[in-house]
Amino acid sequence: MTALEIAMAGCLAFGHPTGNYYEAITTHSGLQVIHADGAVTLRLREERRERREEPGATLDIISLKDEYYPFEVVRHVRVWNDCAAVETWAEIRHSEPGPVRLVRADSFAAPVAATSDVVRVLSLTGTAKNEANVSRSSVGNGQTVELVSRAGTRNAWEANAAMMVEFGDDVGEERGKVLGVALEWPGNSCRRVRRNWDGSRTEVFAGVDMTTGPYTLDPGVTFTTPKAILVWSENGRGEVSRTYHRWARRHLMPHGYDLHPVLLNSWEGSYFSFTERTLLDMMDGVKEMGGEMFVLDDGWFGRGKFARDEKNKAKAGLGDWCVNKAKLPHGLGWLADEAERRGLKFGLWVEPEMANTNSWLYEEHPDRILSEAGRPPICGRGKSQVVLDFCNPAVRDNLFGQLDAVYAEIPSLAYVKWDCNANIWNPGSPYLAADRQPNLWYDYAKGYLELLKRFRAKRPRVMVQACASGGGRMDFGSLRYADEFWPSDCTDPYRRIFIQWGCSQFYPASAMACHVTASPNHQTKRETPLKYRFDVAMTGRLGFELHPKDMTAEEIAFAKAAVADYKRIRPVVQRGDLYRLVSPYEKPLAALMYASEAKDAAAVFALGLKIDGGRTETLKLRGLDTDARYSVREINCGGRLHLVGGARFIASVTGRDLMERGLDITLFGEYDSAVFEICKNEQSR
Ligand code: GLA
Repeated sequence: MTALEIAMAGCLAFGHPTGNYYEAITTHSGLQVIHADGAVTLRLREERRERREEPGATLDIISLKDEYYPFEVVRHVRVWNDCAAVETWAEIRHSEPGPVRLVRADSFAAPVAATSDVVRVLSLTGTAKNEANVSRSSVGNGQTVELVSRAGTRNAWEANAAMMVEFGDDVGEERGKVLGVALEWPGNSCRRVRRNWDGSRTEVFAGVDMTTGPYTLDPGVTFTTPKAILVWSENGRGEVSRTYHRWARRHLMPHGYDLHPVLLNSWEGSYFSFTERTLLDMMDGVKEMGGEMFVLDDGWFGRGKFARDEKNKAKAGLGDWCVNKAKLPHGLGWLADEAERRGLKFGLWVEPEMANTNSWLYEEHPDRILSEAGRPPICGRGKSQVVLDFCNPAVRDNLFGQLDAVYAEIPSLAYVKWDCNANIWNPGSPYLAADRQPNLWYDYAKGYLELLKRFRAKRPRVMVQACASGGGRMDFGSLRYADEFWPSDCTDPYRRIFIQWGCSQFYPASAMACHVTASPNHQTKRETPLKYRFDVAMTGRLGFELHPKDMTAEEIAFAKAAVADYKRIRPVVQRGDLYRLVSPYEKPLAALMYASEAKDAAAVFALGLKIDGGRTETLKLRGLDTDARYSVREINCGGRLHLVGGARFIASVTGRDLMERGLDITLFGEYDSAVFEICKNEQSR
């Protein structure tokens, strides 16, 4: 079986081609509509099928039309030549005399032929500062497991838009049948896995969530479902993850193979309390440690009584995108020049979708805000945060103009952190007509993507970080335009091991921003060694979020060496294949490795959790060339060496040995960790 076969089966099941309405209900079709005349049936017949060769891919287009109503579904299935991920989506349109209501319009809906007694669903769930917990449950006969997220914005928290369906009891990292289903969508979404009464049939669905009300589709308008990305593997979850990572780097992310810089973000180092001097000191500090970019986080904007300053903190200013001259008298362009003078790039935090009720924007243009007529607004952060009406193109245009003027002040702008710190708690759009209010959820998400796309088109080289109070926007929809995520506001390395483990199930390491922060950790108060904080952060895109002035000379020296080590292994971490070796859900440590596609380099991480005393573990490596010879060197050493026997360097060992016999390592006590750099020896055969 292949992902393509599964996708094509979807084409047939989609819209229940038999036209039997009873069957349509009982098989839970992925498409359900209410026609302009109130009828609820569909009898779709295939009209046309076309195959188009695209650069690097083949696209099948299948047009289905209703026998009676002028209603059409055009299914798309794209297969990439260089990676086993299949994209599938549908366009829905009609020319009925009035609007049609879409009760359900999934991106993908299909029976999956893999027979097995056990079907499990793996998904990611969580909340603020506790994202991407891996959750697994089995689907019993006659049961449906449903994963729904309805926050409007921070949807990756409750139910991340990706899941794996495991067939059989023997599924592991490197074995077993697994179907990956991910949506390229930041909006409300729903995935379902359903088994019939005797378990002989498993159906899988994924699409936009419509339980907040049907989508009203006018004649002549096309509703495009988000893309579903399917990956099928008979070799376990690891292969599914690696395929998603490759697909994302090659075919989704704007610059999937660019190396991401080591940066310092100002947030945890200063929060809202900074002057120009604070920021210059931070720049000096990160430069000294080998960093490459400085990012100014929240607190730089707003004016007058609504300035986002130390007094107002998060209570004011969102929506007024002009630099706060009282705080930064020389402006943003000057700051970016100061960064450039130090050889650093410059990045800026923004929160485009939001306003505070304490803002000039809210005072002057309340009609730009999502709100429910007659009800006082439910406000989020700072008891004053509300969401702009991104369904309204004029609101988006205005915002684009405001932010563009800010960016224009910073010709060297290299990075934008796009944050989003509220859900849609007031689901009313002043722009949409009364009978179109349920369209808000889909139209909002489209509006967000449209703005990101516009930003990209105008500033193609500027990196974007998708952040939503941490990992609320960890989805492939955002990653089409963004370069990375901020997976969590929790920067405690112990908790990050789990969060990053979850993230790695679908999203590539280069997109996983991981920052070394102060100890005790600001969120959990946990104290951990600096080495541990580095080792955990080095498994993704390394950065800092602290004030370097608070570090001792020894810590700075350690950090300098760690950054140099990271830069050496960065290509393999950010572009390599991930192999998860030991799960933190099963043992008191996590072990993982990245191996280059050419199998000539690798980096191995062993990250201890609460280890009592010491623990020896054999790490059987993966992804190497069996017959090649490699050297193994422990890097980022903080005193103790971790290879059993005490060596720091092994000059020559075969890939076979590393994979079959493995590396014996010991972790000493809690929060201990080790990193190994593996290089293929020249003339190694
Ligand atoms: C959110 C983000 C943080 C930081 C703050 C700033 O919580 O997730 O990283 O940017 O906002 O207010």
